[in-house]
Amino acid sequence: MKRILFCLLLLPMFAFASGGGPELQKSLNDVRNKASLQNGAKIFVNYCIGCHSMKYSRFERVGVDLGIPEDLLKRDIMFTAEKPGELMLTPMTAASGQKWFGKAIPDLSVVARSRGTDWLYTYFMTFYADPTRPWGVNNLAFKDVGMPHVLWELQGAQKPVYHEEHGHKVLVGVEPADEAAKAKTEGYRRAVTDLVNFLDYVGEPAKVVRWDLGWKVILYLFIFTFFAYLMKRAFWAELH
Ligand code: HEC
Repeated sequence: MKRILFCLLLLPMFAFASGGGPELQKSLNDVRNKASLQNGAKIFVNYCIGCHSMKYSRFERVGVDLGIPEDLLKRDIMFTAEKPGELMLTPMTAASGQKWFGKAIPDLSVVARSRGTDWLYTYFMTFYADPTRPWGVNNLAFKDVGMPHVLWELQGAQKPVYHEEHGHKVLVGVEPADEAAKAKTEGYRRAVTDLVNFLDYVGEPAKVVRWDLGWKVILYLFIFTFFAYLMKRAFWAELH
């Protein structure tokens, strides 16, 4: 019996082990950081919205939540819309996606919830050159990915790193292919953190508001408790 219980306890470990995939890198994004969210939004509309929609987000809401005034919103963010009230939709039709990429390109509204921020961070960090693939790149987190490395300019070229294990070459990571790419590493990390931050916010916009609201609620509770205490003292003073 004991042995069975012990095995049951170990089960979750095997579940994780069989999950496969690469070890995920930690995303240090912070949805309270508005400057980072603003930069993430900028990266998204410059590099992603040409193919991906966020069909539950409106430009206007993003502007308000991220503290971007309407004139800047129009100038820097709203490339695919006339009015702030419009949804963040891609001009890419499902048919074009099918034709060029062999599939309808996924909407990214809730990708941070379905994949998780660490997965997204790892995904953007681990594109690497693979001449056998249609776009010349593969990805450590997403084997045989059908998306080109659209942030290539920001990161520079990455090459795969292999380890020899029992006579087999095993892919274990990626590294900058040249000095120019090496020099871009820090800047690219920051850009990806901001982009993941924006995807995280879009997946749950209320989170940003909740952070803002949280400390006010706590403060209110403290003040309320203080007055409740004074009232209690006043009541008891009369009863004594
Ligand atoms: C040229 C078109 C194109 C652009 C631009 C593009 N993507 Fe993609 N993306 C795709 C395609 C196609 C897929 C589907 C890949 C597959 O299933 O193999 C995809 C898949 C993804 C996925 C995986 C979704 C999932 O859960 O399976 C994420 C995340 C993603 N893209 C994020 C981005 C972000 C962020 C940007 C901007 C930095 C971006 N993409 C720019 C075409 C594009």
